[in-house]
Formats: sequence, C-alpha cells, structure tokens
Amino acid sequence: MSAPAAERDTAGVFSPGRARIAARTLRSDRWWLSPLLTVLGLSAFVVYATVRSFVRSAYWVADYHYLTPFYSPCLSDSCVPGSSHFGTPFPELPMWIPLGFVVLPFLLGFRLTCYYYRKAYYRSFWQSPPACAVAEPHRGYTGETRLPLKLQNAHRYFFYVALIVTVINTYDAITAFHGKDGGFGFGLGNVILVVNVILLWAYTVSCHSCRHATGGRLKHFSAHPVRYWMWTQVTRLNTRHMMFAWITLGTLVLTDFYIMLVASNTISDLRFVG
Ligand code: FES
Repeated sequence: MSAPAAERDTAGVFSPGRARIAARTLRSDRWWLSPLLTVLGLSAFVVYATVRSFVRSAYWVADYHYLTPFYSPCLSDSCVPGSSHFGTPFPELPMWIPLGFVVLPFLLGFRLTCYYYRKAYYRSFWQSPPACAVAEPHRGYTGETRLPLKLQNAHRYFFYVALIVTVINTYDAITAFHGKDGGFGFGLGNVILVVNVILLWAYTVSCHSCRHATGGRLKHFSAHPVRYWMWTQVTRLNTRHMMFAWITLGTLVLTDFYIMLVASNTISDLRFVG
C-alpha cells in the first residue's frame, strides 16, 4: 500500500531519523531491470504451468512411457491408461481439478515459501524494496510476523513433501527407459527427463531447510562427522540455490513441452535404442 502523501513524512523511509532525500532513489543505473525480468519470468511460468496442468492432453507417451512432471503421480480414473504408475485410488475427476492435484498444491507451496522466491517476489511484485537504495512504496514494514506471511514458516514441511515428489519424479524418469516394443529403450526424451530430475534434486537438496535438517542444532560438528559432511555438501549446493530455482523452472517447462510435442505426434522422439 502506498503511503498517502500526508503520511509520507512519518512512515517508512521517510521516517524521522532517515536521510531527508525527496527522490525515490539517486541510482542512475537500470535498477528496475532485475525486478522486471523476475516478474516476466515468474509470470510466464505460472501461466504455462497453469494451462498445462488443466488441459489434460498430451501428457503421456504410451510408446516410451514418458510422463510429464505436471501430471505425476496420476492417481485417478481420469488418467489415460498406463500413466498411473501408482494405481488409481481416486475416481474420475471433474475438469476443474488438475490430474496432478495430489502433489501440485504442495509443490506450489514449496516454491512459494522458498527463501529465494520470497526474496524474488517481495522485491519484484511487492516492490519491498525493488532494489538496494530504492525506496519502497509502502508505509510500514512488519516482515513475516503476521498472517498471511507468517505461513511462510511452513516451508520446512513443504520441503519433506517435495523430497517425496522428487523421488516419484526419479521413478518416472527410470521407468521411461522403455522401448516401443517393450524392454529397454532410450531416446532424447530420456535425456531431458533425467537432466530435469537431476536438477530437481539439486534444487530440493540445496534448500535452506535441508541445510538446517542436515546440520542444524548441532553444538559440535566434530561429534557428528556424517552430518557435518552432509551439511558441507548441502551448503555448497545452497550457494547456488537461486540458480537451481530458475533452471528448474526452465527444465520443467522444457520437459513438459517436449513430451507434449511427442505425445501429440507433432514431432517424433529421437531414438537411440528401442
Ligand atoms: Fe528454496 Fe527451500 S529455500 S526450496
């Protein structure tokens, strides 16, 4: 919420004690570029993922057992035959429920509450603040101390669900080594699925909650050498968490898009074996 002009003298960056600078910022570089690209990138992903999650077409390649991550696991009678790797405990679903409804809310929660994405959308969408040394258009700042932002603390629980989902994606990638006539098969789709799942693991394991789960609350690392080693590895990945956050948005879209093209017979899968 922007500060009414009358209150600007007493709120936020215009509070007494702050430097009396009338301009919103003295920066002359393109500080607005980063938040703008973030808005465009996140919006494009949300639109694509939403449309694909609801269309219910071209998500399974029966010949090669390719299943897009947006429909995994597919657990209802509405799923096309063969795409339900874990059975169909749910009946037919109305069109307004995505077939991946069991895990999509958790994956959305995991990404929404991710420490990196929080920073990204607070700065870009909410402009709080849009960049260093650029005044934000809000009156006050309460951080994440009130509802609904207090719910961001649930991130650690979403992390454990995301681990399970990544295991399921891994299973999907392994079962996709399937030839047209049965047995082993290997094509470009497998390369895309495997690369995607490796990067999903990198994103999930580099999570700040994972870092805490492996090495948090320890008083003496020397007394817990295994956890210390795990914490060290996770910490290394954690420094690249932002990169994995963006790359996995791209690989998820690429994986889904490729499977959509093959499943709809728009292109043929490039086969190496089977
Ligand atoms: Fe980004 Fe946990 S901090 S997924």
